[in-house]
Amino acid sequence: MNKILVTGGTGYIGSHTVVELLQAGYEVVVVDDLSNSGIEVLDSIEKITGKRPLFEKFDLSDRELTLDFFGRVSGISAIIHFAASKAVGESVEKPLLYYRNNLVSLMNILECQLKFGVQHIVFSSSCTVYGQPDHLPVTEATPRKDAESPYGNTKRVNEDILRDTIAANPVLKGIALRYFNPVGAHPSALIGELPLGVPQNLVPFITQTAAGIRDELHVFGDDYNTPDGSAIRDYINVVDLSKAHVVAIERLLAGKNRQNYEVFNLGTGKGVSVLEMVRTFEKATGVNLKYTVVGRRAGDIEKIWADTSYANRELGWKALSGLEETLRSAWEWEKGCGGYKLLIYK
Ligand code: UD1
Repeated sequence: MNKILVTGGTGYIGSHTVVELLQAGYEVVVVDDLSNSGIEVLDSIEKITGKRPLFEKFDLSDRELTLDFFGRVSGISAIIHFAASKAVGESVEKPLLYYRNNLVSLMNILECQLKFGVQHIVFSSSCTVYGQPDHLPVTEATPRKDAESPYGNTKRVNEDILRDTIAANPVLKGIALRYFNPVGAHPSALIGELPLGVPQNLVPFITQTAAGIRDELHVFGDDYNTPDGSAIRDYINVVDLSKAHVVAIERLLAGKNRQNYEVFNLGTGKGVSVLEMVRTFEKATGVNLKYTVVGRRAGDIEKIWADTSYANRELGWKALSGLEETLRSAWEWEKGCGGYKLLIYK
């Protein structure tokens, strides 16, 4: 049985991916510093899969601790590296925190891969590396643009660190997955997105507004050059997204990769506006959502969606869930994750 290290495995996308890996028969070791997630997530993973991943709590930007971990835990076949700070606004205020956390942790992991002979890595990247593209939809060949935030820049620089380290060490094989907007929750409603404090992202803000925790949703701008004036994104179901990680791992372990470093867009190929999201949520759940249109949010782009044909063809993977079903899953999670709420609404 192949053993997969999942960093950030108690986080939003990480936890869903751990579930998919366990269900696909992999052994999983989770490393997370729990800075933005709770240890209870492991219980939920166990409830869903009947299996409990091994777990170690430490910060991967600590080189000594990372070296120690790899020295002790043998037999890791591949790594999926999710662990990172991800709040765009916070990154503007605390750039050094973001550069240290996000860049140093990947560098430590790559150093350990070389030292301890772990060949394969899948890296969590983001469509943020494309900025506002000149042409839509975005293919993997679309040029990257300067990042709008230190957070976005860490994704871009980490891609470069990975690409250059693999070029210098052909023993390493890596895949960067550029996520569009992951949303929704596991159909069990046992794991989902758990933002600390006031949510910055659209869907958790929608579900918290529907639940009465927030007074109303602010729609950031209705004067964009889009059919209804609100901004457009490509919202991908988190379980569909997680399954792509299992496919990427299988690709690397089976040596099916075409290059030592590969990049894939993970989206649905469909652009949806903020106002369409509101309407689809209402239709899917029967809950009326109070919202007001306010000014644009600084740093937001107007529209982006993925060309998924390369990922569909090469990975044999496709995002299958409909948006209504996905938003219903986010709502079920919002209603069901009661115990955790005490932790997060402070
Ligand atoms: C943001 C980041 C992206 C990051 C991702 C991580 C920016 C520019 N991009 O994506 O780099 O990878 O989060 O989760 O910050 N919206 C509202 N009201 C709200 C919240 C959002 O109208 O209360 C709108 C936004 O203006 C945007 C859309 O909803 O048009 C999606 O926003 P969000 O969920 O924050 O994702 P991104 O901004 O696309």
